[in-house]
Amino acid sequence: MIMSTDLADVAVAKTKLCFIDGDEGLLEYRGHEVGKLAKNHVFEEVVHLLLIGHLPSVEELFSFKNKMASYRSLPEPVKEIINTIPTDVDMLSVLRTAISTLGEFSFPPTVEQSLSICTKIPSIIAYRYNRVCKRKPVEPSNHLGHTANYLYMIKGTQPELEQVQALEAYLISTLEHGMNPSTFAARVITSTRADIVSSVSAAISALKGPLHGGALSQISMNLQEIGSKENTERWLREKIEAGKRIMGFGHRVYKYRDPRVLPLKNIAIKLSGNDSKLDLATHVEEMTLQLLKEYKPNKQFITNVEFYAAALLNAVGFDNNLLTATFAVSRSVGWCAHSIEAANGPLIYPQSVYSGPRIGL
Ligand code: ACO
Repeated sequence: MIMSTDLADVAVAKTKLCFIDGDEGLLEYRGHEVGKLAKNHVFEEVVHLLLIGHLPSVEELFSFKNKMASYRSLPEPVKEIINTIPTDVDMLSVLRTAISTLGEFSFPPTVEQSLSICTKIPSIIAYRYNRVCKRKPVEPSNHLGHTANYLYMIKGTQPELEQVQALEAYLISTLEHGMNPSTFAARVITSTRADIVSSVSAAISALKGPLHGGALSQISMNLQEIGSKENTERWLREKIEAGKRIMGFGHRVYKYRDPRVLPLKNIAIKLSGNDSKLDLATHVEEMTLQLLKEYKPNKQFITNVEFYAAALLNAVGFDNNLLTATFAVSRSVGWCAHSIEAANGPLIYPQSVYSGPRIGL
């Protein structure tokens, strides 16, 4: 038996969805480089690529966009359940509960089921966000694309093009990433032949953790706590010496560079204008990499996608309550694509090595 407690060097699935080369820093969805997809395509086109298998023609895109828009409205029971959840419960827990309220979908997972779930996630987040902020709920607009509609439901006003484009680049860049923990969780659930709602709710639970999607809101809070360039080194040394992990740094797969970082950093800088928060973020990045090298010389550290994603989402106008939830808006497409792909696969059931006491020994 091969023993691996973190599965770092274990391949658990064959997939046609995503190619990653951690040494070269390459990421492709179905043979398309992610940077180019984020620059040249809209969210719905990349969803079509992932779920249907190819980039859509103009006609296909038109009907696919309409189909996606038609699924956005929340059923009343979902709203009622959200209304009963205390306002201090975090957004990911609310999202998980609301998704479960959609009920059991038939097995195997389908594209239609995936679209129904992925388009309702922004609606759930916006409904909850407006409720907690004591604002009127904003019904989805069928005239707007997926990204613009999400912004519209959160802000309650027609979104600016620059913000839509920035958010769209983020969503496309983080839509899929191989066997990351949340996608793996989704595939494990699908392997038991449970329905896709169960897979997605498990994936949301995995995304919530601070070593995965939960890092996003922590990064933003860290930057607020650091507050100034002068305070950066002291703050970082204290955390590292206390054995704490610095969120937004390190990656299980990428060894030298995460290909999503630089494009998102450039967008965040452009969107932020002269905002000093971005200046602080770049200083914190440089100082963190320098100090991690000093304290842990045997490990190679990189900035991961989350670091500037947090800055980008803040610059779009999203507060900390929306950051990890917005990651779910994009990654839910990957979860669903993997659930469809894994539906005929084997039951995932690894072994464990018992290390406790035995009867009579
Ligand atoms: N800050 C400080 N120390 C770190 C960090 C970090 N960000 N990341 C790893 N380390 C240290 C660990 O404490 C450990 O130290 P030790 O050997 O002295 O105990 C060592 O590096 C190895 O840690 P692993 O968890 O085995 O390293 P791995 O490369 O597998 O970890 C991970 C990847 C989990 C992302 C890690 O770098 C981390 O926790 N980063 C911070 C959280 C984060 O940013 N998560 C988002 C990841 S991207 C995404 O999910 C989309």
